[in-house]
Amino acid sequence: MSLATDRDTSGFHLVGKLLEPASRIDPYPVYAEFRARGPVWVDEMSSLVVTGYRDCETLLRDPRLSAERWRFFDAGRSADPYPPDAPPSVRQPWFLSMDAPDHTRLRRLVSSAFTARTVARMESSVARLVDDLLDHAAESETFDVLSGLAYSLPMTVICRMLGVPQADERLFHGWSAQLTRLLDGFSDLGETDGATPEWVRGSVEMHRYVGELVTDRRKSPRRDDLISELLAAEDGGDVLSHDELISTIVLLLVAGHETTVNLIANGVLALLRHPGHLAALRDDPGTAPAVVEEILRYDPPVQLTARLAREDVRVGQAEAPAGSLIILLLAAAHRDPEANPDPDRFDPGRAQVRHLGFGFGSHFCLGAPLARLEGRLALSAFARRVREPGLVADPPPYREHINLRGVSELRIAHAGVT
Ligand code: HEM
Repeated sequence: MSLATDRDTSGFHLVGKLLEPASRIDPYPVYAEFRARGPVWVDEMSSLVVTGYRDCETLLRDPRLSAERWRFFDAGRSADPYPPDAPPSVRQPWFLSMDAPDHTRLRRLVSSAFTARTVARMESSVARLVDDLLDHAAESETFDVLSGLAYSLPMTVICRMLGVPQADERLFHGWSAQLTRLLDGFSDLGETDGATPEWVRGSVEMHRYVGELVTDRRKSPRRDDLISELLAAEDGGDVLSHDELISTIVLLLVAGHETTVNLIANGVLALLRHPGHLAALRDDPGTAPAVVEEILRYDPPVQLTARLAREDVRVGQAEAPAGSLIILLLAAAHRDPEANPDPDRFDPGRAQVRHLGFGFGSHFCLGAPLARLEGRLALSAFARRVREPGLVADPPPYREHINLRGVSELRIAHAGVT
């Protein structure tokens, strides 16, 4: 089949449906339409949209695909979005968007901080944080699970790991929200001509702040924070440049925050809509890991990822020419009945859960052990401590992002927090 006949305009129609407000509340019917079509070439976006589970898994390990997707977006921009006085590190790609060997070198430097064993040592401090947040929430009759629990927990955890002063944590909440556009595969669709986009402003401010923090740690290193550890690695030779260091810290702050927020909030929402599973979790906190995996499958915080085709890549009947973008709709793949039977049902008791919620292959989420720990502790404490929780609004309001799926508020009424 020639490329010309593969170029079908109805793919763009489906993208349009995905961008509609109704799809923020429930994108899954549109994903099902995509899946029914097989891989869809969307000419207007020079992109191939892939929704089959096996296809997504295979493509995430395909060496013909590059993680340097910024090249695709940069090629579509008329000008450098950053102001001339922006710190040079803003133009330094983070290793999420790099290929080997640079990706391997940078990932190796931070990976020891995120192993399952290192993260397990954080369990009691994370559990204490969850309890403090729920104690605070108990002070009013209704509370917003998003701001009261889901939002604060991951930011505080990652800031403490890095050694960000507690008083400055709130700065990161704003920046992180602005920078999520960088992680959103459809971010450029929201840009307006002329005005400086929010994510550019947030990015510049955050890079300046992190740059100052690094300078400060260079003068007075500490023994127990990740920035000092990374500085020691930098000082050890030419393994890590100053800009790479800043960009890596920014990546950890952003990738580790907005995603985990949505794991917790999407999780609480799914449990409130399935009270039997909430009760089961309350009765047996040992089921929490299974609940977390099912949420990562059923309503994943990261709905899609993308790769750049280095050469022409055929997927089923469609073809992505070299230089085009391959969008992997992970959340659609999770509901591929070939991967998970009865996929539209939320069921933490499944015999096997297959998901790509943390990606797959060389870019598999570095923070997965930490995210799993935070998700498990937050959801089990919610189930155990909040009595008779109920949604104040169903559906709750959603944020505009396509990729990082999550609510903007999750207010619940309750009969007390024990
Ligand atoms: C990569 C999801 C939490 C750090 C990824 C990828 C996904 C993902 C899907 C792969 C993206 C791709 O292949 O294009 C999630 C989800 C999380 C979560 C759903 C929470 C529920 C975290 C946390 C951290 C983190 C807590 C660290 C503090 C990273 C980093 C990468 C990554 C550094 C890049 C890995 C690489 O390129 O080698 N994450 N993540 N993530 N994640 Fe996470």
